[in-house]
Amino acid sequence: MSEPTFFDAVGGEATFRRLVDKFYEGVAEDPLLRPMYPEEDLGPAADRFALFLMQYWGGPTTYSDNRGHPRLRMRHAPFRVDAAARDAWLHHMRVAVDSLGLPEPARTQLWDYLERAAYFMVNTMDPAEPATGQ
Ligand code: HEM
Repeated sequence: MSEPTFFDAVGGEATFRRLVDKFYEGVAEDPLLRPMYPEEDLGPAADRFALFLMQYWGGPTTYSDNRGHPRLRMRHAPFRVDAAARDAWLHHMRVAVDSLGLPEPARTQLWDYLERAAYFMVNTMDPAEPATGQ
């Protein structure tokens, strides 16, 4: 008998959909993050993110079947991910993770991964350009 995957242990697809839906509720209201998302409808972005997380944690490989190798740093290159964007992202993610009410150690395992991944995604050290552009 093999060990159940993390994906199964935390409740499968329904749990990851709840996580991502809660996260995007925060993004939808965020003045820094919302304008970064190219599509008017956040639904497709939420779907890609949920499928990625499900795959990462041992669930179905639908993400890569549709999108190929994740190459997440490359896919974020068009977006300005600075410390402020990372912190805003992590703020909404923290709310979303807490909303799941997962038992330990699953909660900490999930959170530690997301925090590390968010630091890894930062692609500029520059502070935001001054609005007046001097
Ligand atoms: C650190 C702050 C981050 C910002 C500001 C950010 C922003 C974005 C934006 C604007 C997109 C494009 C939306 C779309 O059309 O899909 C995107 C896509 C995506 N992000 Fe992030 N992201 C961040 C961190 C992360 C992290 C930590 C992960 C993984 C744990 C992640 C996973 C994804 C995935 C899977 C996609 C879709 C990639 C695809 O096109 O297939 N992001 N992100």
